[in-house]
Amino acid sequence: MLALLFLFLLFLSPPPILSVNQEGLYLLRFKHGLSDPNQSLSSWNDNDETPCNWFGISCETPALPRVTSVNLTGLELAGPFSSSICRLPFLSFLSLNNNSINTSIPADISDCQRLQHLDLAQNFLSGSIPDSLSEIPYLRYLDLSGNSITGGIPASFGKFRHLENLILLDNFLNGTIPRELGNISSLREFHLAYNPLSPGPLPSELGNLTNLEVLWLTGCNLVGQIPASLGRLTRLQNLDLSINRLSGSIPSSLTGLKDIIQIEFYNNSLSGKLPPGLSNLTTLRRFDASMNQLTGTIPSELCELPLGSLNLFENRFEGTLPESIARSPNLYELKLFNNKLSGELPRELGKNSPLESLDISYNAFYGGIPETLCEKGKLQDLILIYNSFSGKIPTSLGKCQSLRRVRLRNNKLSGTVPEKFWGLPHVYLFELAENSFSGPISGKISGAYNLSNLLISNNQFSGSMPHELGHLGNLDEFSGNDNKLTGQIPASFVKLGQLSKLDLSDNELSGEIPLSGKIPSQIGSLSGLNYLDLSSNAFSGKIPLELQNLKLNVLNLSNNQLSGELPALYANENYRDSFVGNPGLCGDLPDLCPRVSTGKNLGYLWILRSIFILAAIVFLVGVVGFYWKYRTFKKNKKGIGMSKWRSFHKLSFSEFEISGCLNEDSVIGIGASGKVYKVALSNGEEVAVKKLWKGTRKDDSSDELGKFEVEVETLGKIRHKNIVRLLCCCNSGDCKLLVYEFMPNGSLGDLLHSNKRSLLNWPRRYKIALDAAEGLSYLHNDCVPPIVHRDVKSNNILLDSEFGAKVADFGVAKVANGVSKGVETMSAIAGSCGYIAPEYGYTLRVNEKSDTYSFGVVILELVTGRLPVDPEFGEKDLVKWVCTTLDQKATADHVIDPILDPKHKEEIERVLEIGLLCTSPLPINRPPMRKVVKLLQEAGPDNKSRSARKDGKLSPYYYEDGSVQRKEDGSGQASIV
Ligand SMILES: *[C@@H]1O[C@H](CO)[C@@H](O)[C@H](O)[C@H]1NC(C)=O
Ligand SMILES: *[C@@H]1O[C@H](CO)[C@@H](O)[C@H](O)[C@H]1NC(C)=O
Ligand SMILES: *[C@@H]1O[C@H](CO)[C@@H](O)[C@H](O)[C@H]1NC(C)=O
Repeated sequence: MLALLFLFLLFLSPPPILSVNQEGLYLLRFKHGLSDPNQSLSSWNDNDETPCNWFGISCETPALPRVTSVNLTGLELAGPFSSSICRLPFLSFLSLNNNSINTSIPADISDCQRLQHLDLAQNFLSGSIPDSLSEIPYLRYLDLSGNSITGGIPASFGKFRHLENLILLDNFLNGTIPRELGNISSLREFHLAYNPLSPGPLPSELGNLTNLEVLWLTGCNLVGQIPASLGRLTRLQNLDLSINRLSGSIPSSLTGLKDIIQIEFYNNSLSGKLPPGLSNLTTLRRFDASMNQLTGTIPSELCELPLGSLNLFENRFEGTLPESIARSPNLYELKLFNNKLSGELPRELGKNSPLESLDISYNAFYGGIPETLCEKGKLQDLILIYNSFSGKIPTSLGKCQSLRRVRLRNNKLSGTVPEKFWGLPHVYLFELAENSFSGPISGKISGAYNLSNLLISNNQFSGSMPHELGHLGNLDEFSGNDNKLTGQIPASFVKLGQLSKLDLSDNELSGEIPLSGKIPSQIGSLSGLNYLDLSSNAFSGKIPLELQNLKLNVLNLSNNQLSGELPALYANENYRDSFVGNPGLCGDLPDLCPRVSTGKNLGYLWILRSIFILAAIVFLVGVVGFYWKYRTFKKNKKGIGMSKWRSFHKLSFSEFEISGCLNEDSVIGIGASGKVYKVALSNGEEVAVKKLWKGTRKDDSSDELGKFEVEVETLGKIRHKNIVRLLCCCNSGDCKLLVYEFMPNGSLGDLLHSNKRSLLNWPRRYKIALDAAEGLSYLHNDCVPPIVHRDVKSNNILLDSEFGAKVADFGVAKVANGVSKGVETMSAIAGSCGYIAPEYGYTLRVNEKSDTYSFGVVILELVTGRLPVDPEFGEKDLVKWVCTTLDQKATADHVIDPILDPKHKEEIERVLEIGLLCTSPLPINRPPMRKVVKLLQEAGPDNKSRSARKDGKLSPYYYEDGSVQRKEDGSGQASIV
C-alpha cells in the first residue's frame, strides 16, 4: 500500500526540468544585455531549476524560490541598465554598486515596485534622475553617488514615505535643492556633497526632517543664510556645510541640536558672533568654523563643552581665550591662528586634556607660555609665531618628548632655553628666531637627531657653537644670524651632509672658515650647500678654494677680516658684494683692494688645472666603459632567453646585453614598483632599465601576468615627443624588465628641489610645464583607449640634455577601459602625497581630472620652487599654502620662487593661475589637459594678450563657459563622523 502511494507521488511530481523557471529567464535576459569581462556570472545558466543558487542571487526561502535580492557589487559589468530586471515581482534589494553601467537610469525603473534598497553608486550613469523613482513606494535606501548624473533632484522625491538614505554625493548635479525634500520625514541621511549645483539657498523646509542624523552638503554652491529651522533637527549628529558661500550669522536656534557631534562650517562667508546657548550642545566633539568672517569673542560656554577639536582660524575674533578651555577634558586640537585675540593663555591649558596640536599664531597673545601644555605628554605642534609672549620657555617643555614642531618666532621671549629643550628627539622644526633669548646653544642638541630646520636668528645667543651641531645628520638649514655667537665654526660642520643653508652673519665669530679642511673628500659631503652667509663677523685667513666646488645661490663673506686672493671663480664683478669690507682681500676687482693683483696668472693656472681634471675624468670614464663592455661580453653567455624579450622600437643594441649590466652600482633610483638602473651599452648608447619588484603574493598568477603584457603592449605603442620611450621589455616569470631611453638630466623633482634649482630659469620651467602638459594631453586624448597616468608628479617628469621634459613611469597607469569618460575604479589609492586630488577622500575613482590636479601641483612647484608637502606649511599642502598666501597677501610675490628673474613676473603669474585652475577642488572645474596645453601656450612669452592685473592681484579664475570660480582653499576632505 505504501509502495503504491510512493509510486503515485512519483508520478505526480513534475517531469525532469530542462529549463530554468520564468524568473531565471528574466535574469538571463538581464545578463545578456551586459558584458561580463571576468565571467562573474558564469554560474547563471539555464540548466538549473531556479536561479536561487546563482551568484549574487538570493530567494525568499529555499521552499519559496522567489528572487528577492540581486547583489552584483564590484564585478566590472559594463553596458546599459535594463529595467527587465524589474520583471522579478518580488525583488526588494538591487545593487550594481561599483560596475561600469553607462546609460541613464530608465524611467520604467519604477516597475521595480517592491524595491526597498537600490544601490547604483560608482558607475558611469549619466543623464538625469527620473521623476518616476519616487513611485517606488517602499524605497528606503537610494545610492547614486559617484556617477556622472546631471540635472536636478526631482521635486517628486517629496513623495517618498519610507526613504531613509538619500545619497547623491559626487555627481554632476547642477540644479538646486528642491524644497519638497522637506517632506521626506523618514529621511535619516542626506549626502549631496561635491555636486556643482547652481548657486541656490539651503531650503528652510529641510528643518522639517526631524529624523535626520547626517546632513552633508560640502561643496554644493550654497548661497544665502543658514536657515534657522535647522535647529529643529534634534537627532542630527553631523552637520557639514563646509566649502560653500553661505553668509549671514550662525542662527542661535542651532543650540537646539541636542544630539550633534560634529559641526563643519569652514570656508564660507559667515559673519557675526557665535550664538549664545552653545553650552546646550553637550554632545559636540568637533567644531570647525575656520575661514569665515566671524567676530566677537570666543564664548566661554563653547569652551566648557567636552570638545575634542576646536578650529576657528582665519576669522576676526577678538578678546581673550576663556579660562574654561583648560577644563575641556578631550581637547586635542586647538587652532585659532589669524584672528585678533589677545590676553594671556589660560594657565592650565593642557593640564586636563591630551593636547596634541596648538596653533594660535598671528594673534596678539601676551604673557608667559603655560607650564602645563604638555602635561599629558601628547603635544606635537607648539605654534605661537607672531604674538607677544614673554618670559622664559618653561622647563617642563624640556620633557615633552612628543614635540615635532616648535615655532616661537617673533615673540618677546627671553632668558636661556632649557637645556633639554634643545635635544628633543622628534623635533624637526625648531624656530626661536626674533625673540630675546640669551645664553649658549646647548651641546644637548645632539639628541635632536631629527632636526631639519634650526632657526634661531635675531636673538642674543652667545658663547661658542657646540661641536655636537655637526652630529645633526638631517640638518637642512641653520639660520643663526644676528646673535652674539663667538669662537670658531666647529670643524664638525663638514659632516652636515644635508645642509643647504648656513647663515651665521652678524655674529662675533672668528678664526678661519673651516671649509678649508685638509680632507677634501669631506668638503664633498657639504655639496648640498647653496646658501652661505658668514658676513659681518671676524673671520680671518684665506678664502678656501674649495668654495668653488659648491653650487652656491647666495655667498656672502663681506665685512670680515679675510685676506689673500679671491678664488678664480669669484674674481669677477658679479661677486663684489660677497666680499666687500675685507681689508686684506685682493682680486681682479679694481676697488676691492688697493693692490693690483696677479689674478690673471691665477686664472690661467685655474684653466690649466681644469684641463687636467677634465683629462683625468675622460680617462676614468674610458676605463670604466671598457670594464663594462668586457663584463657585459662575459655575462651575455648566461643572459636571459631571447624569447622573453619584446621590443617596440628598432633597437641598435642587443637585448642580451641589458641583463648583464644590472648591478647595484648602477642603480639611479628606487621607486615603489622597482629599481631603476642606468646601463651604458657597448654601442655607446645609454638606457634606463626598470626592474620591477617580484610579485610576492598571488600577483604572479597568470592573470596578472597577462595584464602586465597588455599594459606593456599599449605603452610600447606610444610614440610622442613628450613621453619617455619604452624601448623593449623582458618578462620571464620572476624577472620583469622595462627598458627606457635614458634621460641625462634626471627628474624634474630632483633638480628642482636640490641645490641645482638655479639651473632652472623661468624659460626652462615654462617649457617643462608645456612639454609635460602635451605628454599628458596625448595620453588622455589621443590614445585609444585613453590612458590615465595616476601618478603625475615632478619625480615622474624626466629631463633630456636640453631640459626638454618627458612624462615617465606608468607604474600605476592603467588603460581606461574603453569607456569614453575614462573614469576608472581602483582597488587601492595610487598617487603620491601632496599630489592626490581631494576627491580621493570620498571616492576611490580616478579619471583624467585627477591627473589634471596632480599636474597643477607640478605647476605650483615650478612657480614656487617648493615641495608639494613641506613642514613649513604645517597642515597645509602646497596647494593650500599657495591659496591662503595669495588670499592674505593679495599679491603673488610671496609665492613666486625668489630666485626667478622678476622680469618674467607677468608670465609667471599667468602660469600660476593655470596651476590654480588645475587644482580646483571640484573635478568639474579643472580644465582637460588639452585645454591646459592651450592655456599654457597663451600664457607664454610670445603672448601678452592676457596680462595680469595692474594692481598685482590675481584675477578671479574664469572658466571656459565664462563662469567665475570662487575662492576655495582646496580642502575637500570628507568629514563624516
Ligand atoms: C553584496 O555583495 C558584496 C560583495 O560581494 C558584499 O560585500 C555585500 O555584503 C553584499 N550585500 C548584501 C546586502 O548582501
Ligand atoms: C545642467 O547640465 C546639463 C548637461 O551639461 C545642461 O544641459 C543643463 O543646461 C545644465 N543645467 C543648468 C541649470 O545649468
Ligand atoms: C515645513 O517647513 C516650512 C518652513 O520651514 C513650514 O512653513 C511648514 O509648515 C513645514 N511643514 C510641516 C508639515 O511641518
